[in-house]
Amino acid sequence: MDNIFKIAKSEMLNADTFLLTIESERIAKKARPGQIVHVKCGNGTEVYLRRPISICSVDREKGTFDLAIQIRGKGTKILSNMKPGDEIDIIGPLGQGFSLYPKHRKIIVVGGGIGIFPLLQLLKDHPADNKKAILGFRNRSLVILENEFRQSCDGLFIATDDGSYGEKGFVTDILKKEVEKELPDMVFLCGPIVMMKAGVELLKKYNVPCEVSMEQRMGCGIGACLTCVCKVKKGDDWEYTQVCKRGPVFSGDEVIFD
Ligand SMILES: Cc1cc2nc3c(=O)[nH]c(=O)nc-3n(C[C@H](O)[C@H](O)[C@H](O)COP(=O)(O)OP(=O)(O)OC[C@H]3O[C@@H](n4cnc5c(N)ncnc54)[C@H](O)[C@@H]3O)c2cc1C
Ligand code: FES
Repeated sequence: MDNIFKIAKSEMLNADTFLLTIESERIAKKARPGQIVHVKCGNGTEVYLRRPISICSVDREKGTFDLAIQIRGKGTKILSNMKPGDEIDIIGPLGQGFSLYPKHRKIIVVGGGIGIFPLLQLLKDHPADNKKAILGFRNRSLVILENEFRQSCDGLFIATDDGSYGEKGFVTDILKKEVEKELPDMVFLCGPIVMMKAGVELLKKYNVPCEVSMEQRMGCGIGACLTCVCKVKKGDDWEYTQVCKRGPVFSGDEVIFD
């Protein structure tokens, strides 16, 4: 079947987050940064719905892609027990990814928690010649993929809530400092809603465009069920739109965060 793939590698990144490397030439070639896959987590009705996971990185030569997954509940726990050689049922790549415009020469990516994952392949693929990454974690023990991010950008900044690693405080505080030093052409944000909302409001003041990747619980993943809607502007009014189909990436000035 076209959506059954083999797991090449599974490794823990910290106490509750693991990386799955999956063999699929098609997904590795086709996936664009910011797109997601919809993963079946088990047989039977216990975990009936597929779970949306961002494509973290791809190796187009080897024909593999990586998913970084935090164990949250039943579905992700089942995935964490999968071993190399096991088969996994995945639909994708799905959704609209980040914009990669060659005219954007200076970019900043801002991620918080599991929101950092889709930003790694974005840094690798974006044609900009100055790329900075600002990543936020609750504390030192949760800092992951640091080397991978460092190797994919020109400047990496890490913030932790408790100051146990990098700078103490919010990623948006570092973003403010960097924007005031030199205006970027584009900023990409992914993480908790409060973080993205604060980032979008900040960037608006400096007239810097941005894109955000929205996380909503999903049902079908293909635009058929309305589980995943978020509010977006429509002229002077607003409407609900499906994150799985029109997103997960949206222009920052389009989304209504509430
Ligand atoms: C567009 C998108 C991209 C995502 N990318 C990643 C990723 O790259 N890596 C990753 O680890 N996770 C990612 N997630 C979150 C992931 O889908 C959920 O953590 C997962 O579905 C939980 O499934 P579960 O069966 O383990 O937990 P469940 O038993 O379904 O839920 C356990 C806990 O997780 C919370 N939860 C469930 N779904 C979500 C969600 N969508 N957002 C926030 N909290 C949720 C529930 O409220 C509950 O508290 C993404 C979600 C979306 C919508
Ligand atoms: S998850 Fe069904 S419409 Fe988006």
